[in-house]
Amino acid sequence: MKSIVVFSGAGMSAESGIMTFRDMGGLWERYDVTEVASPEAWEKNPQLVMDFYNQRRKQLLQCEPNKGHTLIAGLEKDYDVQIITQNVDDLHERAGSTKVLHLHGELKKARSTVDESLVYTLKGGELKLGDYCEKGSQLRPHIVWFGEAVPAMDQAISLIQQGDMVVVVGTSLQVYPAAGLLNFIKKTVPIVVIDPDTPKFSAAGNITAIRKKASEGLQSLSTD
Ligand code: OAD
Repeated sequence: MKSIVVFSGAGMSAESGIMTFRDMGGLWERYDVTEVASPEAWEKNPQLVMDFYNQRRKQLLQCEPNKGHTLIAGLEKDYDVQIITQNVDDLHERAGSTKVLHLHGELKKARSTVDESLVYTLKGGELKLGDYCEKGSQLRPHIVWFGEAVPAMDQAISLIQQGDMVVVVGTSLQVYPAAGLLNFIKKTVPIVVIDPDTPKFSAAGNITAIRKKASEGLQSLSTD
């Protein structure tokens, strides 16, 4: 069975009603990223950081996977499909995709502030000051913040090197190290980039740009 690696970003979930970060009106236009998504922000004002992610989580509970997510899940009938996503939502999983690696963490999880291997799935929608891990320390959102290492990066590099085809969908490719993944794709492997506003990048592959929304662009890959 041939393998497809899908590398997705915020544009993948845009049609589900989740705001992207850098488009006009995107999240980073409304919020100062250093105030809500950095270790310094957590030090300075943990309540503000909690509120930001509690809002994102609450919004996610009201969203459903879109046609693009469903089309990717459907590819598993004919291909070995591995998703590497920068998204912290669970819409790929809810659409039925079985192999999803989250590079930047997961909104519905929390982790210990003394032992990062202690990760918990949140039962309710809210994480609060005073919610502790089993070692008695405050829980924080299970999100990779700016300035932090990306623990899943090595695994992502190894996965993207194994793809017979790579589909890049809905990412501006502005955030590193994630965007650097494209440099690890084998030269002979076809790369399809689906985005209404094709991002600039350099990769040595056989590249096809589809300037469409995720749901429309992915239709052309579907075998249904
Ligand atoms: P961006 O907001 O930077 O880029 C979103 C991309 O999606 C842009 O290239 C848009 O043109 C495209 N887009 C918009 N609507 C689309 C649609 N319906 N279908 C397909 N594409 C569409 O988001 P990311 O590249 O994912 O990190 O951002 C990377 C990281 O920056 C995020 O994971 C997040 C953010 O700060 C953290 O929070 C750690």
